[in-house]
Amino acid sequence: MEEVAFLLRPREGWVIDGTVGMGGHAEAILERSGDDVRLLGLDVDPAALAQAGERLGRFGDRARLVRASFRDVAPTARAASVDRAHAILLDLGISSYQLEESRRGFSFQGDEPLDMRLDPDGPTTAADLLNGLAEAELADLLHEYGDEPHARRIARAIVRRRPLRTTADLVAAVRGAVPRHAWPRRIHVATRTFQAIRMAVNDEPAALHQALRDAPGLLAEGGRLGVISFHSGEDRIVKRTFRALVPAGFAEVEPSPLSPGDDEVRANPRARSAKLRVVERLR
Ligand SMILES: C[S@@+](CC[C@H](N)C(=O)[O-])C[C@H]1O[C@@H](n2cnc3c(N)ncnc32)[C@H](O)[C@@H]1O
Repeated sequence: MEEVAFLLRPREGWVIDGTVGMGGHAEAILERSGDDVRLLGLDVDPAALAQAGERLGRFGDRARLVRASFRDVAPTARAASVDRAHAILLDLGISSYQLEESRRGFSFQGDEPLDMRLDPDGPTTAADLLNGLAEAELADLLHEYGDEPHARRIARAIVRRRPLRTTADLVAAVRGAVPRHAWPRRIHVATRTFQAIRMAVNDEPAALHQALRDAPGLLAEGGRLGVISFHSGEDRIVKRTFRALVPAGFAEVEPSPLSPGDDEVRANPRARSAKLRVVERLR
């Protein structure tokens, strides 16, 4: 939080928070800047926007919230008459509210419907994919989005257990598929599967690619784009995009990538795999 607020530190103009969530980063940025800085916050989840709205209400018209995907960051900024941004932030993944309280099946703890849509009006649920994809497609998805070493076994177990109705069904399929001695030590055996299915349900890699194509062009001179990712595949996309921007007049802001310190991980264990990369538009 501190590093984001410090590294993005806008002195004036617009900040676009493409993943405003519960408004934590947005609040930190607005608190540390003057009245000349305004923030446009995007999220696809209306429940998140309601929470951000409460938290940011005290900033009055310095904070504007829009229900939109960051894949549409360019048209959304245009519609809000934001021509140039001095800072753009993408904090990828899901919020602790979505994980723990939304009851949309993001967590492998508990027993919830297999939904996993961040946008409750999205076209595809986790149940649609788990019960509808061919076994090979499921295996590819678990491998590609989850880095899951047991993707084929898990895909086979899911297909055998159909129809899956709740998160407990999915956890049972994964537990049955991976031999006990091969369970990861630091994370739950179903962590990677849940992450992969969530990313597919929300088409997350495609949205990230589109946002990374459009966001740099929205930056003012000296403006910075920061992306926090939680997964090696996403970080790879960010790293490659940022490197490719260097010849076009951008510079990576070091140290890059930045990981949370021990204190932050102790206070917020879910931050342990976070990586922050920041790029600045020089001209
Ligand atoms: C890790 S949380 C952000 C937390 C936020 N930075 C805070 O401090 O409270 C990620 C948020 O991004 C949202 N999100 C995910 N994909 C999105 C997309 N394509 N467009 C807009 N918001 C998205 C999620 O709904 C979630 O609220």
